[in-house]
Amino acid sequence: MAGIVVVGAQWGDEGKGKLVDVFASKADMVVRYQGGANAGHTLVVNGQKTVLHLIPSGILHPETVCAITSGVVIDVFGILDEIKRLKAAGLLANPRQLLISDGATVLLPSHKALDAAREASLSGEKIGTTGKGIGPAYEDRAARRALLFGDLFDRATLRAKLELHLREKNHLLQSLYQAEPVGIESLMAQIEQAAGELAPYRCRDTGFIINRALKANKRVLFEGAQGSMLDIFHGTYPYVTSSSTLAGSACIGAGIGPMQINQVIGVFKAYATRVGSGPFPTELNNETGERLRTLGHEFGSTTGRSRRCGWLDLPALRYAIRLNGITNLALMKLDVLTGFEKIGVCTGYRLDGELLTEPPPTQSDFVRVEPVIEWLPGWSQDLTKLTNLKDLPRTATNYLDFIGSQIATPIDVISIGPGREQTLWVKPLFNN
Ligand code: GDP
Ligand code: IMO
Ligand code: MG
Repeated sequence: MAGIVVVGAQWGDEGKGKLVDVFASKADMVVRYQGGANAGHTLVVNGQKTVLHLIPSGILHPETVCAITSGVVIDVFGILDEIKRLKAAGLLANPRQLLISDGATVLLPSHKALDAAREASLSGEKIGTTGKGIGPAYEDRAARRALLFGDLFDRATLRAKLELHLREKNHLLQSLYQAEPVGIESLMAQIEQAAGELAPYRCRDTGFIINRALKANKRVLFEGAQGSMLDIFHGTYPYVTSSSTLAGSACIGAGIGPMQINQVIGVFKAYATRVGSGPFPTELNNETGERLRTLGHEFGSTTGRSRRCGWLDLPALRYAIRLNGITNLALMKLDVLTGFEKIGVCTGYRLDGELLTEPPPTQSDFVRVEPVIEWLPGWSQDLTKLTNLKDLPRTATNYLDFIGSQIATPIDVISIGPGREQTLWVKPLFNN
């Protein structure tokens, strides 16, 4: 049995997509268990870029089955676009490569409209959401009125639930936000058309299939979306997403037991980024931040927004290691630090004269922390063509060793470029 969770250990966009694609060549299944099309996972193979939002990042490997489980909120029109793009590229030739659980939550245009209207109605305190309707869709799930993916295939249930849904959403959109309502007849027709096209991917219960695969000693990768600091319960609330982004959520979202997870791989960048509002202690609002953004191409894969950039934040990483029970780490984008004369690393926070090694629990404290920065010498060599760890410049190795000494968790993978092949292994995956 090999259940491995790949989870973002920062504020999202750590490079999870690339890593999952690399690992997926050896995986039997890749599973998305939370989030929705707010995710933007980028895969680069032979110079060809694929950006995925809902489809798991194992999809470029025809032998790997990809599953979207009940914990995910599915934009039915968005996923169809993704499927069409993949097919146009000659991928997803066999529909059995993609399984969508009947228990997943359906995300509708009304959720997106509400997301946009809510953000527009806020003045100073916007969350800075991706506008993909994620919050409103999870609200419906929690309120027990969500449309489920399986409902799309039963006309009477679909209509009844949609009527109930639009009665409430249109009232909110029109009366509270002075926004346009969503018409039922055209939406019903569009959904029925989409349902017809999505029918080949329908799976009654992906959890059953995942469980069976694990019991048969197959290798199952659980692909996290977003990052630990965006978790609804343990992130920088309220500047978070609306799902639990942590490794434990893989069990809940997929419908398997915790003992079926053997390894939790935390993905982090050699520096830090954040999109949207919320505390970010190491943020660099200066030329260095701009340089990181330019060199790292730090623009959102989903919204194209500029990502906020800063030095690596070890207190946040330690916190993510604890929250997820991370057993192994993958360090991404080391190549981006080439050319910096000195590199900052935040080893702790100062708050009211006290030194903290992890983020404080309340937001009012978190926004007040001062990062303690240690400086390490940089390197000037291009790393992107290296094929062997031993060829890393000494100062780059020192940087890795310094991080290792601070977090007591092994770094097993080092990524030195967006391409699949730009990956250095300290230790192979699937060691059992
Ligand atoms: P995800 O949401 O965690 O999958 O990450 P994104 O795809 O949103 O953002 C990561 C970006 O960094 C993408 O553009 C990747 O192609 C790119 N990337 C991933 N790993 C590396 C790396 O090691 N070096 C560089 N330069 N880019 C990388
Ligand atoms: P991946 O999987 C980075 C952020 C948004 C916003 C907050 C809430 O690509 O790492 P939401 O639309 O979820 O209600 O927005 O969460 N956010 C992400 N930031 N990467 C992501 O996904 C994100 N998904 C949501 O920018 O601050
Ligand atoms: Mg992303």
